[in-house]
Amino acid sequence: MTNRYAMLTIKKLNGEEAASRAPALADVLIDCVEGGASVSFMLPISRDTALDFWHGVARGVARGERILLVAEDAEEHIVGTVQIVTAQPENQPHRADIAKMLVSRRARRQGVAQRLMAAADAAAREAGKTVLVLDTVTGGDAERLYQRAGWQRVGSVPMYALMPDGALCGTTFYYKHLA
Ligand SMILES: CC(C)(COP(=O)(O)OP(=O)(O)OC[C@H]1O[C@@H](n2cnc3c(N)ncnc32)[C@H](O)[C@@H]1OP(=O)(O)O)[C@@H](O)C(=O)NCCC(=O)NCCS
Repeated sequence: MTNRYAMLTIKKLNGEEAASRAPALADVLIDCVEGGASVSFMLPISRDTALDFWHGVARGVARGERILLVAEDAEEHIVGTVQIVTAQPENQPHRADIAKMLVSRRARRQGVAQRLMAAADAAAREAGKTVLVLDTVTGGDAERLYQRAGWQRVGSVPMYALMPDGALCGTTFYYKHLA
């Protein structure tokens, strides 16, 4: 079987680009939430809610508070995304959070997230960051991804959040030191 995501391009969007791609990013977010991903939103997720979220992200990118990466397929459709939140308290200038790693269901299990994580490391390094932190639903698919990418598990907090259908879920925290 050919891997259609071998032709993947990872792009860093500026604020204006992020705002103009908000509809495509909303598609990815809605698809993930409807697929059961615990990524801050509950079901049913409306298009307006998803668009508001991405316009907020675009404003954050424009202010230099976060970096937005997207993975595009050969037809320039966005199939995945991840953010590096660079704005941190003044005593943590070397730290960033990784947030909203999302891959459309149709594009999964072909290495899209792995490529996005590698690009996120590179973008974080370029921004002068040496300590990265993230959290993810305990026992979810993303845990294997992060462990493969060299992230260290810190621990988990039971009942930290809700799944999109309202069920309680634990959250596991990870960190990575960049060389
Ligand atoms: C978690 C998530 C981002 C992973 O995205 P992905 O693009 O499918 O990730 P990858 O393709 O890099 O890896 C996923 C699996 O496919 C496998 N894989 C990668 N390339 C492959 C290929 N060419 N052929 C076969 N399998 C492959 C990986 O080994 C991995 O296997 P595993 O899950 O059994 O460990 C995606 O499932 C998702 O968006 N989930 C919903 C949102 C979410 O929970 N995000 C995390 C928030 S913290």
